[in-house]
Amino acid sequence: MRIGILNGGGDCAGLNAVTRAIVRKSEEFGYEIVGIKHGWAGLLNVDTSPLKWADVSEIIKVGGTILHTTRTNPFSRKEGPETVLESVKKLGLDVVIAVGGEDTLSVAAKLANMGLKVVGVPKTIDNDIVGTDVTFGFDSAVNVTVDAIDRIQTTGESHDRIMIVEVMGRHAGWIAAYAGIASGANLVLLPEDPFDLEEVSDFLKKRHASGATASVVVVGEGCSLKGSPPGDPTKVDEFGHARLGGIGDLLAKEIERRTGIETRVVVLGHVVRGGPPSAYDRILATRLGVAAVQAVKDRDYGVMVCLHDNAMSRVPLADILGKMKKADKETISLVKDFSI
Ligand code: F6P
Repeated sequence: MRIGILNGGGDCAGLNAVTRAIVRKSEEFGYEIVGIKHGWAGLLNVDTSPLKWADVSEIIKVGGTILHTTRTNPFSRKEGPETVLESVKKLGLDVVIAVGGEDTLSVAAKLANMGLKVVGVPKTIDNDIVGTDVTFGFDSAVNVTVDAIDRIQTTGESHDRIMIVEVMGRHAGWIAAYAGIASGANLVLLPEDPFDLEEVSDFLKKRHASGATASVVVVGEGCSLKGSPPGDPTKVDEFGHARLGGIGDLLAKEIERRTGIETRVVVLGHVVRGGPPSAYDRILATRLGVAAVQAVKDRDYGVMVCLHDNAMSRVPLADILGKMKKADKETISLVKDFSI
């Protein structure tokens, strides 16, 4: 059995832990592993290298991905999907393990319908993939975000400022919500709930009028003002997603203007996506890697391995196609209860 592994979409902490687990578990069954470089691009351009036991030594703790990643979408190119299938044949791959987010896994689902033997592994800092309780990369990103907010809070307090912290999370506010709750932020704004500048400013004015000297506001980058879509629609990737960023700046300017309180913005951006995985993510990624090899052994293709009730499980890739896991009601209500 010859298995190709690829990583697609934005990187996250834990990708190397999955690769390591797949390579090491595969040795047990005598499977050969081929690393596909730069996501689906590696199957359009045939860019691969063999992966052996020694190649994955010490990488469980390393952030990023040794396989490299891109946001390449074969379905946005003429004959892209057919080229991928031809490359798989040329490389003699029996199955592809695609480690990715919603975009990468939706490509996998469509290729599965065209006959590709594929197993999906969910990953993303955004934690927005349906069919799995949580994605690896998320816990690491939240930990880094909380550490950053703790630091931002003390400098904000020293200077009597309002500190706006913009964090990643394209469609879902999981990072903003979890980091906001865990750091005791005073206000958390989520993409799930477009906000009104007047209401936000009033909330902060009242807070400071009743004795507070500083505030921390966490805002998810996918947040928007009521009635206007987020991001820059002139800059879209191959999956049609607008490039985000800028909501923190806008908030800071408007809040300062409306409240008269000095307001600063910190955009955490890619800082929380890079660096070593948390222990939780190392373990989750290892479990998922082992579960993916087990799915190959069972000849169970067209599935995504996942975490369900703290056990490894599988769901058909078709079931996750075009869906998104937004922050749930309990999380949104916790965020509201602790906006003080
Ligand atoms: O991978 C998810 C994510 O980190 C989103 O939170 C963010 O909007 C996006 O990727 C940024 O991607 P890029 O690094 O390609 O600009």
